[in-house]
Amino acid sequence: MAKIMLSGATGLLGRAIFANLGTHHDIIGLGFSRAQPPIIKADLLNEKEVFELFDTHRPDFFIHSAAERNPDKFDDDPEQAIELNCAVTECIAKCCAQYQCKLIFISTDYVFDGRTAPYDEAAIPNPLNLYGESKARTESLLQTLYPSAAIVRIPVLYGQVGHLGESAVTVIAKQLLHGVTEFDDDALRFPTDTKDIALVIDQAINHFGQSMRGIYHVSAKQKMTKLDMAKIMAEIMGIDTNALSGAPFNPNAAPRPKDCQLKDTKLMTQGIEINTDFKDAIADILAPHLSQ
Ligand SMILES: NC(=O)c1ccc[n+]([C@@H]2O[C@H](COP(=O)([O-])OP(=O)(O)OC[C@H]3O[C@@H](n4cnc5c(N)ncnc54)[C@H](OP(=O)(O)O)[C@@H]3O)[C@@H](O)[C@H]2O)c1
Repeated sequence: MAKIMLSGATGLLGRAIFANLGTHHDIIGLGFSRAQPPIIKADLLNEKEVFELFDTHRPDFFIHSAAERNPDKFDDDPEQAIELNCAVTECIAKCCAQYQCKLIFISTDYVFDGRTAPYDEAAIPNPLNLYGESKARTESLLQTLYPSAAIVRIPVLYGQVGHLGESAVTVIAKQLLHGVTEFDDDALRFPTDTKDIALVIDQAINHFGQSMRGIYHVSAKQKMTKLDMAKIMAEIMGIDTNALSGAPFNPNAAPRPKDCQLKDTKLMTQGIEINTDFKDAIADILAPHLSQ
């Protein structure tokens, strides 16, 4: 049993990691505005608070999942978003070095420009938007100054949500309920269940232990556009799929890469991979929201 501190434990991914690893590890979850016991409320922008957490709990692993992850939010308040994604991670990395704790940093497929997919772990980042840039910059800092850190890149996520608008995937179901019929049919995505990411991180910790370091890609295998996801969800929801079509390009949104398929080579060679079927998994996630 390892002592694991997890930031972002109130978030979409953090909740799944907390639930999975909590069954067999000593896990200390951190949250901020949504923190309720047993999750500890901590403002990661406050360096002193971060050092105190390490000093008090002395974790073996720190999974850093807290971040600003909406590319469009970077246009609203770039300074705060960049501080949360970059400066906070650097502070956590310093603490990990001081307290001999293994850092697992959650990153994104948006570090790539989407022009030369699929990308293996050695591919060179070239982000198209500020969000991707904030993650790529942080990855580069970790690789230079804290090479013992592990960086886990993941694609767009879905999972248990408090409301359908909470994830970039379930929001499609919300739009369908509101009568939206046009969805992007250009960018290719690999929607991945947060439960699967949690399972893979758990397996990686068990398999590699403290020797986990460098970049790891984790991704589901099914490739789809938002329109493809909308059609699958519409079918589950009993909405006529023939009414759905591709949407025109939205010039106001932050630029998104076209295809960032991640090849999870390093984990697959160890027998760690994801084979969940999107339609089955998303049906379970939508069910409680459709019966209301
Ligand atoms: N969601 C995706 O589709 C996706 C795709 C690729 C990569 N990722 C990456 O996966 C990770 C998890 O994303 P997510 O979807 O779980 O994000 P999320 O649902 O937006 O959760 C963000 C988390 O960060 C916490 N947080 C924000 N500001 C904080 C602060 N000042 N101090 C402490 N905690 C703070 C939030 O706490 P409160 O809510 O309690 O305030 C929340 O727990 C991120 O690194 C993200 O970049 C996500």
